[in-house]
Amino acid sequence: MGGITVLEVEDYLYDMLPPRDEVLTEMEADAAKNDHAIVGPAVARVLYQLAVISGAKKVFEMGSAIGYSTVWWARAVGDGGKVIYTDGDPKNADKARRYFDRAGVSQRIVVRVGDALEILSEEKENYDIVFNDVDKIDYPRVPRLAVPRMKSGGLFITDNVLWSGKVSKPNPDAQTKAILEFNRLIYESKDLFTTVLPIRDGVAVCVKK
Ligand SMILES: C[S@@+](CC[C@H](N)C(=O)[O-])C[C@H]1O[C@@H](n2cnc3c(N)ncnc32)[C@H](O)[C@@H]1O
Repeated sequence: MGGITVLEVEDYLYDMLPPRDEVLTEMEADAAKNDHAIVGPAVARVLYQLAVISGAKKVFEMGSAIGYSTVWWARAVGDGGKVIYTDGDPKNADKARRYFDRAGVSQRIVVRVGDALEILSEEKENYDIVFNDVDKIDYPRVPRLAVPRMKSGGLFITDNVLWSGKVSKPNPDAQTKAILEFNRLIYESKDLFTTVLPIRDGVAVCVKK
C-alpha cells in the first residue's frame, strides 16, 4: 500500500506475520490477481483482535468483496456469532459463499447483495461492530446510518481513512475530500470516541459512547 509508514518498516511488519491457512492464503492470491482490494493480513489481525477483546458476537460488514475480512470476523465471533456480509456485486457474493464453505464459517454468515448503506438503513437489530469498507465517496453518509445500529460500547471501524497519505496532501480529489469529511465527522461526533491507527492505509476505530 505505502504512503503512510516507511516502506522498510512496512515490509518488516508484513514479514513478521504468521502464515495464514490454505483458504485465506488462496483469497489473498485471488485478491492480488483479480484486483480485489482487501484489508490484507496485518489489518485483518487488528479486526480479529478488536472483535475478540470486545467479545463481539454480531458484526455488520459494509463492503465485503470476496469475503476475506468476513472470514476473519466470522472466526473472531466464534460459535453462535453472526456476521452480515454485504456487497453490491453478485459475482463477488458467489465467490465469497464458496470461500465461506471451505473456511467452515458459512453458518455464521448472512450474505446480502445490494447497497450496504440501504441494507443497514433497513436493519432493525443493533450490532457489536459495524465495519465500513464501501466506496470512499459514500463515507460521509455512513456514520449517521451506523451509529444508531450499534450497541453502546460497540465499535465502528473503517478502513482506508489515510488513503495512501493523500489526506495530508494539497488539492484533494473527490474521494480524498469524502474521507477528510468522514474523519472530521467521526472525531467531532458526540456519540463516538475515535482513534486512527496508521497501519497499512489507516484504520479508524470509534467506540460508541
Ligand atoms: C475494499 S472492497 C472490500 C474488501 C473487504 N472488506 C475485505 O477486506 O476483504 C470494497 C467492496 O465493497 C463493494 N462496495 C462498494 N460500495 C458499496 C456499497 N455502497 N454497497 C455494497 N457494496 C459496496 C465493492 O463492490 C467492493 O467489492
